[in-house]
Amino acid sequence: MERLHGRHIVLGITGSIAAYKAPLLLRELLQQGAKVRVVMSPSARQFVTEATLAAFAPVVAEVFPAGLPGSWHVEWARWAEAMLIAPCSATTLSKLAVGLCDTAPTLVARSLPRTVPLVVAPAMDTELWEQPVLQRSVAQLQEEGVWVLPPALGELASGAVGIGRLPEVESILSAVEGALTTGVLLPQRRRLWSGRRVLVTAGPTREPVDAVRYLSNASSGRMGYALAEAFRDRGAAVVLVAGPTMLPEPPGMKLCRVETAEQMYEAVQGHSAEADVVVAAAAVADYTPAEPVAGKVRRGVDEWFLRLRPTPDILAHLGQQRRPGQALVGFALEVQAEWSSARQKLAAKGVDLLVLNSLHWGRSGFGGEENTVALLFPDGRLRMLPPRSKRVCAEWIVNAVEEIIGVTDGTE
Ligand code: C5P
Repeated sequence: MERLHGRHIVLGITGSIAAYKAPLLLRELLQQGAKVRVVMSPSARQFVTEATLAAFAPVVAEVFPAGLPGSWHVEWARWAEAMLIAPCSATTLSKLAVGLCDTAPTLVARSLPRTVPLVVAPAMDTELWEQPVLQRSVAQLQEEGVWVLPPALGELASGAVGIGRLPEVESILSAVEGALTTGVLLPQRRRLWSGRRVLVTAGPTREPVDAVRYLSNASSGRMGYALAEAFRDRGAAVVLVAGPTMLPEPPGMKLCRVETAEQMYEAVQGHSAEADVVVAAAAVADYTPAEPVAGKVRRGVDEWFLRLRPTPDILAHLGQQRRPGQALVGFALEVQAEWSSARQKLAAKGVDLLVLNSLHWGRSGFGGEENTVALLFPDGRLRMLPPRSKRVCAEWIVNAVEEIIGVTDGTE
C-alpha cells in the first residue's frame, strides 16, 4: 500500500546536522507514492548537496532561483497539499514564528494557502530546543495551527544524550498522514485537548510459559501507537502503555513498556485515575499459564498440558472504576457475528466508543499497515470507515472522541 499515493508534498530541508537524513526521508516519501518538491535553506547545503536531492525531485535552494519566475513560491505553495520541514533548525523555526521569508523553505511555508497544513520536525541540540525564546516560537506556531512534531530523546550530534533528535522516518511519515487527513489544527481543537490526559494501551502481551517461551499474538502495536501520536499531535498529554513491539519510541509522550497482561493492568491502574480519555487498543492475552516453569522445559516424549488462568480484563475494570467525564474507548476484533458481539461488548465493558475490526473485512486488524474499522456508539449509531493506513484510522477515531468529550463538557 502506498500511504501517500499521489499526494503533493513540499519538503523543506534546513541547516541542522540531521539534514544528512533528508535524502532517506525524501526517498521514503516517494516510495509511499507522494509527489515531492524540495526547498533548501542555504545552511542545509552545508550538510547535503542539491545534486543528491535533485536526482529524485525538483529542488529550489534560493529565494531567486535561476530559470524560475519570481512568483515560483506562490505556484509551489498552491501546488502543495502539505508542507513538511524536516529537519527544522532553530533559526528556521524562529523565522517562521515571526514571518521572515528570506530562505526558500520559509518563503514557501509563508506562501501556503490557509487551508494547507504545515508540519515541522525540529532537530537541534537540547540547549537550543529548551531556550524559552524558542519554546515561545513553538507555542506561537502551534497556536497558528502548525503541526510541530516533538523531537526525540537520544544521542545527539554533540555526543550528549538529550531531547533534540530528528524523529524516525516512520514518526515523520505518520505526522504527515495526520496532517493530510485532519488539515490545519485549528485553535479550538487545541483548546479542547490542551491540559487533557490520554492513556492508550497498545501491542500484544507475552505470557511466560517457561524461562524462554511465551504465549502471545500477532499484534504489531501500530494501531495503538498511531492513536497515541494522533492524540499527542492535537495537544493532549499522552501516556502509552505498550506490550513488546518492534516500533520506534514515539517522541513527545510517556512510554511505559510492559510484557504481561498483569503488568499492563498494573501500569494502567497507575495512570487511569488522572486520565480524561482511555483507549484500550492493546491485544491483551485473555489467559496466562497458571504455573510458569522457572527454568527451560526440556524436550521429552510425554505430552505437555498447560493449565491457563484468566488475566484481568483491564478495560472492564476501567469501565467499573471510571469517574464522571472520563471517556473510554475499547477495541474488538471479531471473527464471527461481529455486529452482535460488538454491541454486547460495548454494553458489557461500559465504553463510550467501540472500534470494531472484523477478520472478514479485507485489510483489517492485526499486523498489517492498513485497517478497516467500524465505530459503534452507545446510542446505536454506527460509522463504517473505508480501509486506510492506521494513522488515518487513528485521526478518525480521535475525531469521534472529540465528539464525545466535546458533548460531555460543552467546550466545543
Ligand atoms: O474481550 P475482548 O478481549 O474481546 O475485548 C477487547 C477489548 O478489551 C480491547 O479494547 C482490549 O484492549 C480490552 N482488553 C483488556 N484486557 C483484557 C482483554 C481485553 O483491556 N484482558
